Amino acid sequence: MNDINILGIESSCDDTSAAVIQNGVIKSNVVSSQAVHEQYGGVVPELASRAHQQNIIPVVDKAIKDAGMEPSDISALAFTKGPGLLGSLLVGTSFAKGFALSMDIPLIEVNHLQAHVLAHFVKESPADDNQPKFPFLCLLVSGGHSQILLVKDHLEMEIIGTTIDDAAGEAFDKCAKIMNLGYPGGPIVDNLAQKGNPEAFKFNKPKIENFDYSFSGLKTSFLYFLRDRMKENQNFIEENKEDLCASLQKTIIDILMTKFHKAVKQTGVKEIAVAGGVSANSGLRNRLEEYAKNEKLKLFIPKFAYTTDNAAMIAITGLFKYQKSDFSSHDITPQARMSL
Ligand code: KG4
Ligand code: ZN
Repeated sequence: MNDINILGIESSCDDTSAAVIQNGVIKSNVVSSQAVHEQYGGVVPELASRAHQQNIIPVVDKAIKDAGMEPSDISALAFTKGPGLLGSLLVGTSFAKGFALSMDIPLIEVNHLQAHVLAHFVKESPADDNQPKFPFLCLLVSGGHSQILLVKDHLEMEIIGTTIDDAAGEAFDKCAKIMNLGYPGGPIVDNLAQKGNPEAFKFNKPKIENFDYSFSGLKTSFLYFLRDRMKENQNFIEENKEDLCASLQKTIIDILMTKFHKAVKQTGVKEIAVAGGVSANSGLRNRLEEYAKNEKLKLFIPKFAYTTDNAAMIAITGLFKYQKSDFSSHDITPQARMSL
């Protein structure tokens, strides 16, 4: 059997990434993160697309070299079609078309959200068989999305619940911004939370029907709480940073876990997984581990490299589509808003 080498390209937000997988096994995964946005406290779309333009060729070149391959060894090219920032997506899409055309190989469009879930299927070695079995429930938590998905097959996922406003990652980032902690806020809050008391402060939790999430109320409650305390003590945030982060993180995790537990009970699944940038959170990982143990469920937590945006997840999704000959035509355009 000929080897199937998929080159994946990810450029939906502020990470330029390229990866090569061979028959589902990771060969390289190069990520170039854009530090330029830190000083603005969030991603500046115009700067992101310019940085992608500068990074994409060296990143792809390194991914192919790290894999020990030549461009002519690549069987197909998978790229992120959306959702994401249109300017950023355009850079990846245009590069992907050019590469596929010049090498005369199939072009495969990938949904970024589906790819976050399928990151669990990237193999570390040919013998690696530690992958979830269908159906499983996946908690997809990133900067743009918070969803509970029933994964029935590689390319068949049903949305059980979704956020009606902010995503979990946004809640981390926006609350960190209120505290002036820097960007992206998630990892900073995670770090400080490890030194704080999660029971120190209480914040409002949403009362939403069914399996949906809402995080905008928490952000507002956090803002008003700090405003009131700052009236009494100008240094309140500085003096209570660790406790604030620990309490905020616990509230976000409580909200995520309550609905996830409800969905596990309703669907009766035996295997669960977590994906997306927020799945890097140590508090969420610990809570899921404890939960899976108590409920006797098999839990899949991605390697850190596959939590935030990366092209390995795009390449593996590309492989599943390649196996179905699900290819894209060259008149394809990126899409900023896209569901599963
Ligand atoms: O999946 P991702 O890289 O991009 C999107 O597709 O949105 O997720 C980025 C999000 C950001 O909101 C970031 O703050 C959050 O993931 N994040 C974390 C942690 N690491 C990244 N949130 C909480 N704890 C972390 N350790
Ligand atoms: Zn993402």
